Amino acid sequence: MCKNLSDLQKMYSQGEKIACLTAYDASQAHWAAQSGVDVILVGDSLGMVVQGHKTTLPVTIEQMVYHTQMVQRTNHSAYCIADLPFMSDATVELALSSAAQLMKEGGANMVKLEGGARALPAVRALSDIGIPVCGHLGLLPQSVEKYGYKVNGKDAKSAQKLMQDAADLQNAGADMLVLECVPATLAQEITLQLKIPVIGIGSGVHTSGQVLVWHDILGVTLGRAPKFSKNYLQQSASIQEAIESYVSEVKSQAFPAQEHLIAP
Ligand code: KIV
Ligand code: NA
Repeated sequence: MCKNLSDLQKMYSQGEKIACLTAYDASQAHWAAQSGVDVILVGDSLGMVVQGHKTTLPVTIEQMVYHTQMVQRTNHSAYCIADLPFMSDATVELALSSAAQLMKEGGANMVKLEGGARALPAVRALSDIGIPVCGHLGLLPQSVEKYGYKVNGKDAKSAQKLMQDAADLQNAGADMLVLECVPATLAQEITLQLKIPVIGIGSGVHTSGQVLVWHDILGVTLGRAPKFSKNYLQQSASIQEAIESYVSEVKSQAFPAQEHLIAP
């Protein structure tokens, strides 16, 4: 059971790894929650895995609200984070009104937004008003048109920048941070440096928890699943069993293994 921010903070302070999985509808949310997932992320990855787009850019705030509503109708035990989609957080005012929609209409517990320095004013404003916020650094899918799908933090300069962005987000009031495709040793350093939980995806085993996409862990991804994910249905007799085994491997740090590493 992880229903509120203090449950999440307690898990973090006790060193229990946080198991996070995306879900986009009522059935997925039911099985995720039922299988012991701590945090459900209604990710804007739904643009790709649900809507069939090439990127997350077409996703609208109305669609995020719609999916968050479906998820929250059946999720009775997991903390729920919803993504602010592309451009819905372009200004502080937009970020506030978009976050309000995700929480008031969608029923999300926390909102997530991508970026470092550019996200700070919005993070500060959201946090000041009492909205829990999750940052997102490393690979930023909403910025692919400009930067591509590239691994950040491989050289000393970009590693230093990531470290600074992480600290700045925390100081601006972020309650949690997602690191996507960050070299494992850097992700570990950032996790040690921060006082908020760091959830990794493709960022090694030494973060405070892991997040994966529903379709990837159940082997129903269209096209090739990312190297950092793992198909848990292969070793399981049911969807519930597969998600349970993902959760248990996150807790025991059996996942991610060496073979899932993007960069050391
Ligand atoms: O949209 C999403 O699913 C995400 C995770 C991959 C972190 O942002
Ligand atoms: Na996302």
